[in-house]
Amino acid sequence: QTLDMELEAIEKGGYEHFMLKEIFEQPKSIADCMRGRLNASTGHLVLGGIREYANKLEGAERIIMIACGTSWHAALVAEYIFEELCRIPVEVEYASEFRYRNPVINEGDVVVAISQSGETADTLAAMELAKSKGAIIFGVCNVVGSSIARVSHEGAYTHAGPEIGVASTKAFTAQLTVLTMIALRVAHRKGSITERKYHELLVELEQIPSKVEESLKLNDKVVEISDIFKEARNFLYLGRGYNFPVALEGALKLKEISYIHAEGYPAAEMKHGPIALIDEEMPVVFIATRDSSYDKIVSNIQEVKARKGRVIAIVTKGDVLIPKMADFVIEVPAAHEALMPMVAVIPLQLLSYHIAVMRGCNVDQPRNLAKSVTVE
Ligand code: AGP
Repeated sequence: QTLDMELEAIEKGGYEHFMLKEIFEQPKSIADCMRGRLNASTGHLVLGGIREYANKLEGAERIIMIACGTSWHAALVAEYIFEELCRIPVEVEYASEFRYRNPVINEGDVVVAISQSGETADTLAAMELAKSKGAIIFGVCNVVGSSIARVSHEGAYTHAGPEIGVASTKAFTAQLTVLTMIALRVAHRKGSITERKYHELLVELEQIPSKVEESLKLNDKVVEISDIFKEARNFLYLGRGYNFPVALEGALKLKEISYIHAEGYPAAEMKHGPIALIDEEMPVVFIATRDSSYDKIVSNIQEVKARKGRVIAIVTKGDVLIPKMADFVIEVPAAHEALMPMVAVIPLQLLSYHIAVMRGCNVDQPRNLAKSVTVE
C-alpha cells in the first residue's frame, strides 16, 4: 500500500494530481509530437505513418472525422483547419451516432478516426463500419499499438506520453498538433495554400510550445478567478470560429471534474436560446482572442453584460477593448487563429482543475467516468 502510494507520488512528478502534471507537460508533449516531423527552417514536414495512402488524403473529395468527447472537439477544430487550408469538405461525426446510421460513404471519401486511448468502443465500431463500406481510414491515436491504431490503414501517433487523468488535456493539444500537420502537408502537396502561407504556418506551429509555456504562467490568475466562481451552479462557454470547439472543450472539462453544469455554444447561437439563461448569477466564459470574428464576439460580450452576466474573457495579450467590458480577463499570447485553440484551451483546463480541487472533487478519477470507454 505505502509502496503503491510512493510510486504514484513519483509518477506525479511533484504535482498534486496527474491532471495538473499533464496540463503542465503540454509545452513538451506538443514539441514531442512535432519532433522529427516538422522543421520550419527547412520547410520539412513528414509524417512517417502516412505514406502509401497519402494520395488518397490529398485527393479526398470529403473527409469524415469520427471521435468521441474531447477527441471529437479536436476533430471540430480540424474541420475548420482542413476546410480552410485544404479546401476539402469535412464532416465531423460522433462515433456513437455514425455507427448506428447507415452512413453514405463514397469512393472519394476518407475517414479520420481520433482517439487518445485507441480503445473507445464507439469509435472502433464506427471505423469497422466505415471499413466494411470500403473507406480508407487514418487513425490519430496516442496509445501505440492500440486497437484503433491497428484497425486504421495508416495514421499518426500523437506521442503525448501516457495520459492518466480521466480529463483529457495533453492528448487534446497533441491531437490538434498532428491534425494541423496533416492538414498543412495535404494543403502544401495539393497547392491549396501558397508557399508563403505554408512556411508562415510552420513557423507559427513551431512556436506553439513556447506560447503554451507562457499561458501556463497564468496559473495564479486562474486560481484567483476559480476561487471567485467555485460555488457557481452553471457556466456558459462561448466562442466563435476556431474558438467555438474550445468553448465546448472548456465546458466539458468543467462538468466532468467539478460536476458544475456547463454548456459550450458558438457565441452567435446565444440569441437563439441560451441568452434567456443570463442573469447576475451566470458566469460566461468568452474565448475572445484577436481573430477574424473578433468584432462579432465583442458584440456578444456586450449582449451578456447588458443582461448583467459575469464575463470572464480569454483575450489576446494587449487587448484594450475587452478589458473595459469584461469582469475578468485572462491574456494569452497572440497566435495564428488556426492554432489559437492550443493556446486558449490552457487557461480553461486550469480553471476546471482549480475549481474541482476547491470543491473537493476527485480530479483524476471523477465519478461515473472511465479513462477509456470500452463499452457502448
Ligand atoms: C475527455 O476529457 C473525456 N474523458 C472523454 O470525453 C474522452 O475524450 C472520450 O471518452 C474519448 O476518448 P478517446 O480519445 O480515448 O477515444
